[in-house]
Amino acid sequence: MDARTVLSALRRGEALTPEAAAWFGRALGTGAVTDAQAGAFAMGVCRAPLAEAARVALTGAMRDSGDVLAWDLRGPVVDKHSTGGVGDCVSLVLAPALAACGAYVPMISGRGLGHTGGTLDKLEAIPGYRVDVDEARFRAVTAEVGCAIVSASAALAPADRRLYAIRDVTGTVESIDLITASILSKKLAAGLEALVLDVKCGSGAFMTTRAGARALAESLVGTAEGAGCRASALITAMDQPLVTAAGNALEVAEAMETLTVAHVTSPLWEIAVALGGDALALSGAVPGVDEGRARIDAALRTGAAAERFGAMVAALGGPADFVESWRDRLPGAPVRRVVEPERAGFVARVETEALGMCVVRLGGGRMVESDRVDPAVGLSRIAGLGEEVGPGRPLAEIHAAREADADLAEAAVRAAFALSDEAADPPDLILERVRP
Ligand code: URA
Repeated sequence: MDARTVLSALRRGEALTPEAAAWFGRALGTGAVTDAQAGAFAMGVCRAPLAEAARVALTGAMRDSGDVLAWDLRGPVVDKHSTGGVGDCVSLVLAPALAACGAYVPMISGRGLGHTGGTLDKLEAIPGYRVDVDEARFRAVTAEVGCAIVSASAALAPADRRLYAIRDVTGTVESIDLITASILSKKLAAGLEALVLDVKCGSGAFMTTRAGARALAESLVGTAEGAGCRASALITAMDQPLVTAAGNALEVAEAMETLTVAHVTSPLWEIAVALGGDALALSGAVPGVDEGRARIDAALRTGAAAERFGAMVAALGGPADFVESWRDRLPGAPVRRVVEPERAGFVARVETEALGMCVVRLGGGRMVESDRVDPAVGLSRIAGLGEEVGPGRPLAEIHAAREADADLAEAAVRAAFALSDEAADPPDLILERVRP
């Protein structure tokens, strides 16, 4: 096998064999192909999608391009992955809830991408929290606490690190095959027995249509199962931010309110219970999904999940009393501005991607890779679909570093909402389940 043969076959539109796909995945890691060849490969796969066996082979080879963790623990090793959205802080709630149910969650997370937020950026809003720990610490915290949310080390799936950077500059990010191989090569390198996927769909998701979200969910589930990891997916609505805040510290605050049952955000609870129930059932920790959901619900209600979250924060360098003191610990922005609508009405549409970009422009995400993220900025009190807004009920509240930033954000927030005179029912949150 050699790069020219594989690339010529792709050029002719021929189906890539699993052997050829695995060869290329390995070659990305060993350096046996050049960046030009990797770019041509990515473009070829965009033009001639892979069959499932080839996708599994590519993913497995990319997973095996670096360290693959193995565990010997008293419970199942499980994880969750979201394809990304706005106000999506499910991992902060679900990882400790699963840990409180006896599962182990070695969660390798990412940073904000485009208009979507990233779990690592959110956790770094907690003073002292370290996402970049070495493998020994990652393993120790996972074993002792039950969950650890950290960044991928350079030793994990290096083939993906390389291919992702090349896709980014060759216009080849938007391929279901390559997205699948990229997400799963990193996740599966963590040595999981079961993985639940939250595939977002709507105006704030990368997949805006149901058909696109279903195709991605089926690809992720089929490929994970083919690579030996039990998997299932939920397709969930991202036509509005999942919680009422968007921004790093603001989302941690909302997750803490839910974890401590001080002020529960129902969509967050609902998705955590649904995904957690599937994860426990898939891993064999409970006999069925209903039992799994009941366990996650109890872990949240009793404060057991909050206790695990506090233990994880302390073990990864954050304050030992974070669950009690989070209100005083999280940074706040100097400028706060309430955005009242120009007229009263009911929220009929939310341009969720635009709200995500508004947070990025406030400094809560990155315009270029080297940008420093401001953990304090963002939006809170974001009005939901079907909600009545008017005097006393704003569209959102802006948290900004400067008045000038708040001026720009105010215009963006106003433009992101469409109002109607009629009240409409809030839309469904969980749209579909995809099982193997
Ligand atoms: N996240 C990833 O890790 N890879 C992709 O290709 C897209 C999202």
